[in-house]
Amino acid sequence: MFRRLGWLVLYSLAVLLLSCLLFLKKEAKPMGGNVGRQAFWAPPGPRRSQCPPNRTVANVSLSLPSRHRLFLTYRHCRNFSILLEPSGCAEDTFLLLAIKSQPGHVERRAAIRSTWGRAGGWARGRQLKLVFLLGVAGPAPPAQLLAYESQEFDDILQWDFAEDFFNLTLKELHLHRWVAVACPQAHFVLKGDDDVFVHVPNVLEFLDGWDPGHDLLVGDVIRQALPNRNTKVKYFIPPSMYRARHYPPYAGGGGYVMSRATVQHLREAVEEAELFPIDDVFVGMCLRKLGVSPVHHAGFKTFGIRRPLDPLDPCLYRGLLLVHRLSPLEMWTMWALVTDEGLKCAAAPLPQLRGVG
Ligand SMILES: *[C@@H]1O[C@H](CO)[C@@H](O)[C@H](O)[C@H]1NC(C)=O
Ligand SMILES: *[C@@H]1O[C@H](CO)[C@@H](O)[C@H](O)[C@H]1NC(C)=O
Ligand SMILES: *[C@@H]1O[C@H](CO)[C@@H](O)[C@H](O)[C@H]1NC(C)=O
Ligand SMILES: *[C@@H]1O[C@H](CO)[C@@H](O)[C@H](O)[C@H]1NC(C)=O
Repeated sequence: MFRRLGWLVLYSLAVLLLSCLLFLKKEAKPMGGNVGRQAFWAPPGPRRSQCPPNRTVANVSLSLPSRHRLFLTYRHCRNFSILLEPSGCAEDTFLLLAIKSQPGHVERRAAIRSTWGRAGGWARGRQLKLVFLLGVAGPAPPAQLLAYESQEFDDILQWDFAEDFFNLTLKELHLHRWVAVACPQAHFVLKGDDDVFVHVPNVLEFLDGWDPGHDLLVGDVIRQALPNRNTKVKYFIPPSMYRARHYPPYAGGGGYVMSRATVQHLREAVEEAELFPIDDVFVGMCLRKLGVSPVHHAGFKTFGIRRPLDPLDPCLYRGLLLVHRLSPLEMWTMWALVTDEGLKCAAAPLPQLRGVG
């Protein structure tokens, strides 16, 4: 246990060191020294608005909350350029981990990279590819930090649209376009938030039984969900935007896994569909059009662990695939506990982890 604590302290020190290094590196960089990368280091210029707002919609939706009006006014805008891009997937990529993040979530990305997102023994010999999906946010953090992350870790995929809850569907659309070009060979794609803990060996063990050529979307499936009609709630959807009584079945956007076949089929459906502001419901709508039913798996805890269970009980994780809503500190703690080979669980539902560390 003390050894583990030592590791945590070490991690914190490493993060601190990295920050200092970043600062020094920036200072030492001669101006214009690297012409090829200049766009990376330059502050974002004035935003080019290639897509004009739809004023007609803006006028007829005056009674809606401003965010909804904004969404409708720009809903037809669906072509945004890539600002930062990682290299494509290796030929034998088994699982693409596509994680929705935001420019400011530096610590969450650092936590994922050094815990479950770390390539290596943890993946049971399967090739993984980690990619963070980003839009554009305000001036903080400085563009240099993202550029540095992109160079250093080769895992930043950023598009030129504003970071917003209602723009997550744009991430879905653009991720499909990127995968089709840069990672079509991945057998499976896990899409999730940057505050999930993914138990990679359990996910891989589960996927062993599935053919990537067959349709599969597995996660925490929600059925008969009612559109929220309360204007004060983040998820509010007026009848003018969705008329039916229930949403189609969908997998909670915190994290789910798709087969290559489903990714390919979804790509076409997503391109044809009118954008809906809630991204996981949007995917559910596309699945319904495709005639694909999402599969429920109790190992996906996209609403976190409910009491009286202890979210930091490592034995709990032995049987889980993915847990939502962990802070970076909890992520590191969880990692330290889950990878502790000395750990004894009374009723471990899965075999001991192999090849860790
Ligand atoms: C929208 O409303 C504004 C002000 O009420 C008006 O000037 C404009 O012509 C309207 N635009 C459209 C496309 O209806
Ligand atoms: C603008 O909105 C109106 C009303 O919803 C719609 O009929 C029209 O097709 C939209 N224009 C564009 C360019 O999307
Ligand atoms: C987006 O690009 C596609 C294909 O390149 C084009 O057909 C479509 O009209 C574009 N949409 C907008 C709103 O620019
Ligand atoms: C989504 O991004 C576009 C492009 O940056 C922006 O114009 C629009 O306002 C954003 N939508 C919301 C709801 O913020």
